[in-house]
Parts: sequence; structure tokens; C-alpha cells
Amino acid sequence: MKHKLALIGFGTVGQGFVEILVRERETLQEKYGIDFTVVAISDMNKGTLSDPNGLNLPLVLESVKLSGTFAQYPDTSGLVREWDSFETIRQSEADTVLEATYTNIANGQPGLDHCRAALEAGKNVVTTNKGPIALGLDELERLARDHGTRILYEGSVMSGTPVLRLAQTSLAGDDIEMVRGILNGTSNYILTQMEEGLDFEEALAEAQKLGYAEADPTNDIDGYDAQFKLLILSQALFGVRIQKDDIFTLGVRHISRDDVAKAHRENRRYKLIASLEKTSSGIVGRVAPEIIPWSDPLAGVFGAVNALTYRCRLAGDITVVGPGAGRTETGFALLIDCINLCRGQI
Ligand code: HSE
Repeated sequence: MKHKLALIGFGTVGQGFVEILVRERETLQEKYGIDFTVVAISDMNKGTLSDPNGLNLPLVLESVKLSGTFAQYPDTSGLVREWDSFETIRQSEADTVLEATYTNIANGQPGLDHCRAALEAGKNVVTTNKGPIALGLDELERLARDHGTRILYEGSVMSGTPVLRLAQTSLAGDDIEMVRGILNGTSNYILTQMEEGLDFEEALAEAQKLGYAEADPTNDIDGYDAQFKLLILSQALFGVRIQKDDIFTLGVRHISRDDVAKAHRENRRYKLIASLEKTSSGIVGRVAPEIIPWSDPLAGVFGAVNALTYRCRLAGDITVVGPGAGRTETGFALLIDCINLCRGQI
């Protein structure tokens, strides 16, 4: 089965996905019978490439490596370079649009309009972009239903660690009463590095260099990235849309190396804890640093790693620990959704 893809946004995540496809394409064909062909890529800084016969992905990666743009990609007879992101979404022959532009926590744009345009054009959407999902999931799901398409977003929380699908499929029949975890890799990396002796600014600079931080790192260090992930979890797990202003949100910005060292001397550790709890008055969300004992499972989660504990009525506490950011890890999240989409599963 041939499945045609268009990528909107070709930063770390898009490139990570394409690198995986280059390596795994034959295996995916053998294992799942799916031949993923990328027919278009559009990026606001690099340009657009669209070819109905499929792009030569190693050459796309080579061009970006050489110049940071698509300028070095060779011209072929069917190649279009002039389209903007919306023309690419509407006019390319893709079955599915992969939306991987940056997260905008103010209004979800341009990702939100990209998702709307794709669904309205009868194309499925797979995204790792938190903005459109946190702010517009109910509308996007309605659009998908109206147009006979689907929207999948596994990588928007904990990248390729499949926490959403776990709750939606594997825990079917159970009730999740509370979710509590470490959902921002950058903050956790900073706290871990401060325990090793770095100061806050040095640790943040390292997190940025390693590609964990958002385009605007204030979203990480002030807790908004984790807040957005709670907005997504609330909708995905409880079917309840909560407002961002209703989530008490405090980041790690004000924590110093001395604070971290003091907690360490008391066998405790700072962690940025994000939680959602089902209460009689609705879903209550909170993001804030907590000083937790070393015996807490979340205290043993270091670096950019994320973790999430589901408190389930029947199964008890289930904790998943895994990557929450990174080029290959987040690129892989797009692949999970693409395969499940082709298999007709969530
Ligand atoms: N900036 C995010 C983090 C990336 O540090 O966790 C993944 O959402």
C-alpha cells in the first residue's frame, strides 16, 4: 500500500522523521506492507519541494546540510518550488499531512490553520505540534469527522513514548483518576545538571544546544510547555477541555543551584511536577516545582527523560518512563501515528 505524505515544517522533528524513513523504508514495506512516499515538504525558512512522484529524501537532507535550505535539491520535471505551506497542503497529492512547525502557545498558529486546511482538504493530519492540539483539538476532531479524515497526535506529549495510545487503547475499560509526571525535558535536564554543579544559565544553554528546549525557552522554564501537555492530556484521557488559565503554572526559573544542593543534603530532589486530578468539581491541573523524596519513582528520572504515572481505578499506578524530546524520538512519534493510521487504528 502506497501512502503519500506532505511535511509542513522541516526542523529537527521533520528531519528526524525523514532520516528514519531513509533508514527504515524497506523494513516498513516488508513488515507492514506500507510504502511511505514523501511527495512534498514545505518550511518557512528552507522553501518548498513538491513532486508527485516522491522526493529523493537523501538529496533533501543533503541540501539542508549544505545550505540550510532546499536550494541544492536538483530540479526534476514535476518539481514545484513556489508553493507556500497552504498551497502545499491543498495542492500536493498527499494522503496525510505531517504538521511539525514550532509550538506557538499564544494561539497555536500557524500550526492550527495548517491542520484545519489539511482536514478541510480531505487529508489526514499527524502532528507533534502542541499548540493546535492543546488549543483546538475538539474543533480539529470535528473537522476530521466532517471530512472523513483523521487527526493523530501521539508525539505532542512525551514524543515517541506512547503515553496517549497506552491510555486510550491498552487501558481500555479502566478509569484514570489522576495523572502525575515530569513532562518537560528541558526543566528536568536543568535540575539534573544543577545537582551536578552547573548554574541555571549554563544548564539552560546546554539544553538548548542539545535541542531539548522550545524555540522560545521561556515556555520550558516557566512551565508553559508542561501546561500545554496537560491541556492535551485532559482532552485525550478525560475528554474534558480545560483552559490554560485554570492550570496553576510555575516553572523552574527561580530555582538556584543552592536550593538544589540543600534539597540533596536532605535526601530530596526538586522536580517540575505536572498533574491532573479528577475531582468532584472537575479536572484540576497544576504545574509546579516540588521537593520530593528520593523514594518517589519520579525522583529517579534524570536528564531530559520524562515520566508519567497513571493512577488507574482497576490497574493501580502505572508509570511510564521514556524520552520526551529529541530528533529521532519525536520523528519516531510521527511514524507511530502514520503506521496506525494506515492500519486503521488509533
Ligand atoms: N521543550 C520540550 C521539552 C520539548 O523540553 O520537553 C518536547 O515537547
